Amino acid sequence: MRAFVITKYKEPLREAEVAEPTVGERDALVQVHAAGLNQLDEKIRLGEFKQILPYKLQLVLGNDVAGTVLSVGEKVKGFKPGDEVYARPNQDRIGTFAERVAIAEEDLALKPESATMEEAGSLPLVALTAWQALVEQGNVRPGQKVLIHAGAGGVGSIAIQLAKHLGATVATTASSSNAGFVRDLGADVVIDYRTQDFEQLLGGYDLVLDSLGGQNLQKSLRILKPGGKAIGIAGPPDPAFARTAGLNPLLRLVITGLSSKIRKQARKLGVSYEFLFMRASGDQLRQISALVDAGVLRPVVGKVFTFGQAPEALQSLAAGGFRGKAVLTVTG
Ligand SMILES: NC(=O)c1ccc[n+]([C@@H]2O[C@H](COP(=O)([O-])OP(=O)(O)OC[C@H]3O[C@@H](n4cnc5c(N)ncnc54)[C@H](OP(=O)(O)O)[C@@H]3O)[C@@H](O)[C@H]2O)c1
Repeated sequence: MRAFVITKYKEPLREAEVAEPTVGERDALVQVHAAGLNQLDEKIRLGEFKQILPYKLQLVLGNDVAGTVLSVGEKVKGFKPGDEVYARPNQDRIGTFAERVAIAEEDLALKPESATMEEAGSLPLVALTAWQALVEQGNVRPGQKVLIHAGAGGVGSIAIQLAKHLGATVATTASSSNAGFVRDLGADVVIDYRTQDFEQLLGGYDLVLDSLGGQNLQKSLRILKPGGKAIGIAGPPDPAFARTAGLNPLLRLVITGLSSKIRKQARKLGVSYEFLFMRASGDQLRQISALVDAGVLRPVVGKVFTFGQAPEALQSLAAGGFRGKAVLTVTG
């Protein structure tokens, strides 16, 4: 089948003929119709994740899929051929920039009925990230104040909508040209990160979802109220992540060290810092489907590429210039 692969880190994504996926007894084989592109794909291509995610090369890239079930393993109970599904496959089994992909049943969900394949393919990784940040780790409650950084981006555009649904007052950072767009998504306060300093304008926040790291994260700690929490998805990784990621003791030590400064700063301010590394979850995607079909969450597809344009689609992530997500149409 056709797929887009890397055979060496840092080399451009290229098209290849690869073997059909192996379908385990608890897997579904999915015909890929649409595959969302993520910054994670580019970071994997560049080798930035090779310690944490030690993939065997050649590797089919791609972390998001929407498509149709072609066949299922003998122990699969919840899906049948013809079902329209979406998923972020488990991190060990990525490879959605391909005509077909095998996905564990536990990572799969029926796609929202109201969403097109492109819309559904744009959602899994970013919507699961938003869910795990705001619902699981953030425990957002009605009346709380939440700051979502980079509100016009893939994660931000879904996180704003989810935080509003959870009853929060939502602030976000975006370019001035995206102010109306993020307000339409539900943002109550919009800060132009190019001309304004959010630290001077915000205070007493319960939660920050930080997708930029560095200075942005340090400043985010200072707008939290005592007991507040910053959740970082751009790093640095923290000891809890090092424990659960199954890393060797040396790497665990190194990773713990990476976040020691920011955790110390947080402690001094009476707030906390947690890293989030999203994970696959069919259960959470089912809840996300319900919210999409109820009109609570609106997928944001900013750019659609053909399958053959996968390399330039990946490059487009760095260039930006569109809202929400870029998606590949794989088969019609
Ligand atoms: N740890 C995890 O599990 C996890 C999961 C998902 C994503 N991530 C990471 O989170 C980051 C964001 O992911 P994404 O998919 O949302 O990226 P994205 O869609 O590429 O984000 C692009 C957006 O970033 C905004 N932006 C750029 N600089 C900014 C700044 N200084 N302040 C505020 N906004 C800024 C831009 O806003 P304007 O267009 O308005 O200028 C643009 O809309 C990436 O580094 C990604 O790898 C991590």
